[in-house]
Amino acid sequence: MAYRGFVLVCGGTGCESNKSSVIFDQMQKKMTELGLQNEIQLVKTGCFGLCEKGPIVKVLPDETFYVDVKPEDADRIVQEHLLKGRPVKDLVYQYDESHKNVKIENIPFYQKQFRIVLRNCGVIDPENINEYIARDGYKALEKVLFEMKPDDVIEELKVSGLRGRGGAGFPTWRKWVFTKDVESDVKYVVCNADEGDPGAYMDRSTIEGDPHSIIEAMTICGYTVGAHQGYVYIRAEYPLAIKRLEKAIEQARELGLLGKDILGSGFDFDIEIRLGAGAFVCGEETALLASIEGNRGMPRPRPPFPAVSGLWGKPTVINNVETWASIPVIILKGGKWFSQIGTETSKGTKVFALTGKVNNSGLIEVPMGTTLREVIFDIGGGIKGGKKFKAVQSGGPSGGVIPAEYLDTPIDYENLQKLGSIMGSGGLIVMDEDDCMIDIAKFYLEFTVDESCGKCSPCRIGGRQMHNILDKISKGKGELEDIEKLKQIGRAMQKASLCGLGQTAPNPVLSTLRYFEHEYRQHIVEKKCTSGSCKELVSYVIDPQKCIGCGLCAMKCPVNCISGEKRKPHTIDQAKCIKCGNCYTVCKFGAVIKS
Ligand SMILES: Cc1cc2nc3c(=O)[nH]c(=O)nc-3n(C[C@H](O)[C@H](O)[C@H](O)COP(=O)(O)O)c2cc1C
Ligand code: SF4
Ligand code: SF4
Ligand code: SF4
Ligand code: FES
Repeated sequence: MAYRGFVLVCGGTGCESNKSSVIFDQMQKKMTELGLQNEIQLVKTGCFGLCEKGPIVKVLPDETFYVDVKPEDADRIVQEHLLKGRPVKDLVYQYDESHKNVKIENIPFYQKQFRIVLRNCGVIDPENINEYIARDGYKALEKVLFEMKPDDVIEELKVSGLRGRGGAGFPTWRKWVFTKDVESDVKYVVCNADEGDPGAYMDRSTIEGDPHSIIEAMTICGYTVGAHQGYVYIRAEYPLAIKRLEKAIEQARELGLLGKDILGSGFDFDIEIRLGAGAFVCGEETALLASIEGNRGMPRPRPPFPAVSGLWGKPTVINNVETWASIPVIILKGGKWFSQIGTETSKGTKVFALTGKVNNSGLIEVPMGTTLREVIFDIGGGIKGGKKFKAVQSGGPSGGVIPAEYLDTPIDYENLQKLGSIMGSGGLIVMDEDDCMIDIAKFYLEFTVDESCGKCSPCRIGGRQMHNILDKISKGKGELEDIEKLKQIGRAMQKASLCGLGQTAPNPVLSTLRYFEHEYRQHIVEKKCTSGSCKELVSYVIDPQKCIGCGLCAMKCPVNCISGEKRKPHTIDQAKCIKCGNCYTVCKFGAVIKS
């Protein structure tokens, strides 16, 4: 049956948590009521990327892009737009004064993006394998099984220049070759979908929006390296992604795309899901493998590398979700095509979860080599509230901050590393003038100290020591020699820790010290935190010129330390103030000054 139109409702976690399922159900109900169900197809998709403006509903073929849709808007869209052909103007995404219906490719958020990994997210129904197949899904697998030898696949990957997107950027083809060339009766393929970095949700969204791309890629790898069993190790806190992946595996099995004798080729491969153990360190590959084996997820020294001795001592390829999702496209379009995107050393695209003080936070995919300025200002729409950009944090707890002077740096593995940060898995957190760098460093260190498995002392003891020093500084009790101590312990941890967690944990501290040492000094010498984040160093005073004596601040003060007569300037008893900031927030006259 041919439909005259399509309605795509975002079913990503962000939009679902804002009731996009209710919108979907209501639209379905209204369409049935009006007899439109055979004319217009309603589809629940994965994330569109512009999560900040969700729930998102897109109508085709006219490409109307509705944002901030609420359940009560569902009937209007059906009645007005689908029945009468009049887009509901107040819900259409407007990026300028024209108030015109805009095509998605004209929206600035999408203009500099290029979607390979996210090619099907926001386009297909991830719970319907036929929609994946209709977009060339499983064609790469067919090509590999019937037209390519394992070495041809490796060659294509080599030409593509694809490097692992899980953080370290190791060439994917090389890892596959190690496993392929080892003699072994049993080999394994693993997808690392643990994604524990604060602020990152690229892998979750990819699986939610396009689970089959992972299944197809893992099967291709199985054929290439000689493995017959795959595991997806997925974060247990991702129920929607797990559900969609389970459904996708079932559907692929039903169609003979997984299991015995795939597509009649004689090749057997199957996939099982393993739920993550809830620890950040379980994302580290050797800890992850231990966790799949049913042991406590603790890293072990490498070599031997998992590619040679992995799951139950057998050769195991382990790749990140985004790495996997790129593979079917490389096979179909060719490694050469892929290698033309990106920079000299970093090919293809990178997905980022853009969050923090940026206007359009969401999920983006850009060619490697796009500058930070393009990402934050052109795609991200600049800094919230017109504030000043201060720095961007990349690579999560393993990464670092990059200040404004490097905004024009093209993003690739080497450039970010040169700046003292890393690409990491792709969390980008934008910070403005109100963010304190000591506070940021402390936040990440708190995370890694909490998540350290404790197996080796540089990480277990060094991390704690660094955190104690930062805590002291943030309370105005630091000494100048603490700066050197932080650097020394940080360098020791980088060198002596057993796994990547401890080796990279000092990065947020060292990079904030590299660019913002003056802020550390200010906290230590002047006992001052200009951004006002370090509570102990902030004081609140009332400007008698501005105070009109309304008394609101006194009413909201939890310790009753504000006094004053009605319509007369009020004052704060500094000795009693607990620095909660309530007075600052409630005063409508800007009379409370934070300094
Ligand atoms: C503490 C720690 C946590 C990690 N977490 C993840 C993760 O959540 N997802 C991921 O793909 N890689 C993670 N990695 C990197 C993996 O160990 C591994 O390098 C990666 O999965 C390999 O895939 P790739 O070659 O496709 O990047 C982590 C590494 C460390 C040290
Ligand atoms: S570096 Fe930290 S997380 Fe890694 S093994 Fe050592 S203690 Fe465990
Ligand atoms: S809320 Fe502001 S204006 Fe009102 S009493 Fe407090 S400081 Fe003065
Ligand atoms: S910061 Fe909190 S405790 Fe201090 S004066 Fe204001 S409301 Fe009272
Ligand atoms: S979850 Fe809906 S746009 Fe991202």
